[in-house]
Amino acid sequence: MKIAVIQGPNLNMLGIREQHIYGAMKLEQIHQQMREFAEANKIEVEFFQSNLEGEIVDRIQECYGDADGIIINPAAYSHTSIAIRDALVAVSLPAIEVHISNIHRREEFRQRDLVAPACASSITGFGPFGYHLAMLGMTQMITDIANAKKAQEQQQQQQ
Ligand code: DQA
Repeated sequence: MKIAVIQGPNLNMLGIREQHIYGAMKLEQIHQQMREFAEANKIEVEFFQSNLEGEIVDRIQECYGDADGIIINPAAYSHTSIAIRDALVAVSLPAIEVHISNIHRREEFRQRDLVAPACASSITGFGPFGYHLAMLGMTQMITDIANAKKAQEQQQQQQ
């Protein structure tokens, strides 16, 4: 099982930027916790962060035929990027969107989320713990998809 974690603009500034909203944890610390969960559960995990929309689109496209699922925090691009939404739809992989803060409680412009409809699920407002919830959710989702595929194959063989 391989999970790609994709982080959008300014998330490399976690631990420095607006600590009252995003907390004190650095991105590398969040990734280390996810790495430990992945190792304990025999999951392959790859991390990527970019401040550039096109690079995020490229990374999503690279996941096609490579990763089993995507955990993504598109950050500010959540509210503007049709390109990221289209890329997620194009690769047709299960995706979970994470927001550290509760975007629904914040400024009005953050309440429009263009990427969320391209994702199977959204986790918002749990702080950095949201990434752990996303790892749990994604593991379950990928397992469910694999089991459903197996059951379907068995059914076809019996016919
Ligand atoms: C964010 C919320 C976005 O509105 C904001 O632009 C971010 C971070 C979050 O994780 O809470 O950069 O995605």
